[in-house]
Amino acid sequence: MALPKDFLWGGATAANQYEGGWNEGGRGKSSDDVVTNGTHTEPRCITFINKKGEKVKTPMFVGADYNDLDHFECFDDCLYPNHEATDFYHHYKEDIALFAEMGFKCYRLSIAWSRIFEKGGMEGEAPLEEGLKFYDDVFDELLKYNIEPLVTISHYETPLALTEAWNSWADRRTIDCYLRYCEVIFNRYKDKVKYWLTFNEINCIETSAWMEGGVLTKDKQVMMNMAHYQFVASAKAVMMGHKINPDFKIGCMLAYSLHYPYSCNPEDVLAAWKGSTNNIFYTDVHVRGYYPSYRLKEFEREGITLPIEGDDLEVIKQGTVDFVSFSYYMSMVDAADPSQFEQADGGNLSMGVKNPYLKASDWGWQIDPTGLRNALNTLYDRYQIPLFVVENGLGAIDNVEEDGSIHDDYRINYLRDHIIAMDKAVNEDGVDLMGYTMWGCTDLVSASTGETRKRYGFIYVDKQDDGTGDLSRYKKDSFYWYKKCIASNGTDLD
Ligand code: BG6
Repeated sequence: MALPKDFLWGGATAANQYEGGWNEGGRGKSSDDVVTNGTHTEPRCITFINKKGEKVKTPMFVGADYNDLDHFECFDDCLYPNHEATDFYHHYKEDIALFAEMGFKCYRLSIAWSRIFEKGGMEGEAPLEEGLKFYDDVFDELLKYNIEPLVTISHYETPLALTEAWNSWADRRTIDCYLRYCEVIFNRYKDKVKYWLTFNEINCIETSAWMEGGVLTKDKQVMMNMAHYQFVASAKAVMMGHKINPDFKIGCMLAYSLHYPYSCNPEDVLAAWKGSTNNIFYTDVHVRGYYPSYRLKEFEREGITLPIEGDDLEVIKQGTVDFVSFSYYMSMVDAADPSQFEQADGGNLSMGVKNPYLKASDWGWQIDPTGLRNALNTLYDRYQIPLFVVENGLGAIDNVEEDGSIHDDYRINYLRDHIIAMDKAVNEDGVDLMGYTMWGCTDLVSASTGETRKRYGFIYVDKQDDGTGDLSRYKKDSFYWYKKCIASNGTDLD
């Protein structure tokens, strides 16, 4: 069956992984500018100079102690793949024309915060006209082809000046900076952009506080401070956005991880419930407008205190989101005693126990299309507001043939199976779904590993892991396949 008539088919990217132009247009440095490349097994590292004047390289998923930081620096003997990324900055017209050729109805992108405010929006700081103009041009180009922009306000990059000043989101002052930034972009683009997301994968605070919010820490208390400040910031942004343009639809964004119990042993089932509530905690606050009891009790047990001040709780209650968006790549398995089972190989990421029923990608992500139907139903049952799949896709190695063609049937198979599952959730189960934006529609830099060989795109970019490549674009077989999929509203998937 077809998806709804106004279904927002498209693709998704993020500025830090795609845009490049890191030192152009007056753009300030951001958290991703000091992250090195990595691989499936080698961690990406944050580089800085410590208080003793020594060079430090610390794994991004481990973090570091903010008190050790003197200043950030890029080291000559390291590669920083996000600097140039795959250069949307200089290729946006060409790339958007390709999106239009595929028939995109929607394109999800993020704004690089430090391109708008070099220092993040400190009191009295003026926004950068060149940065604002760049996104004006991008939105105009999209609208020329009737492609609806969906903007992530903060996607895995935070102005470095905020970390150097006070450890970014670990400090309440970042709320005001974020709101100054929101006010500027909401006003500037109010007639061009209707759909907004406040924070990308907010739950990844607990996986990498650096990636999610530019915070150097290893401490759960600090992470929960961050979460609280971001909840307040998000709620205030929702209220501000609705005042600036009542037609705005402002959503939250979750990295959805589906947790299966390893067996029907009640202890395994409980472990899976625990895993999934830890994940869904963030949308609970964004949608329901209050902290759920299961997490408040956990904080009490662990001696964690939320930095609640003034009318914070009332703000969180008032500024609930219009829709829930999420990324979906894989599912996980929890067991009461995981040590007795084989572990999934997630490279840089922790994936729990291996699922004997599923195959995994080359990066160990366990492929589970039925899980997407399950995720859509779980979220819709719980919140009863519209959902949006804003990321889904397969990171894989592609080979370019001599004639420039790329035969990526593995990607087509992955996408087809997930789209069928999504169709079932909508047409058989009645889930209210706004759209589907496939992740990394043009090849870009992987967030977890910093590789470009982990490719997601319909459009291949000649950019290699060692930084070589002339950035030319090539259409993969999946490009033509997705075009048919969109034209038939999800019915022609052959
Ligand atoms: C999501 C992020 O976690 O997954 C993206 O929002 C990211 O930024 C995507 O790129 C895929 O992950 P990876 O590590 O393969 O790039």
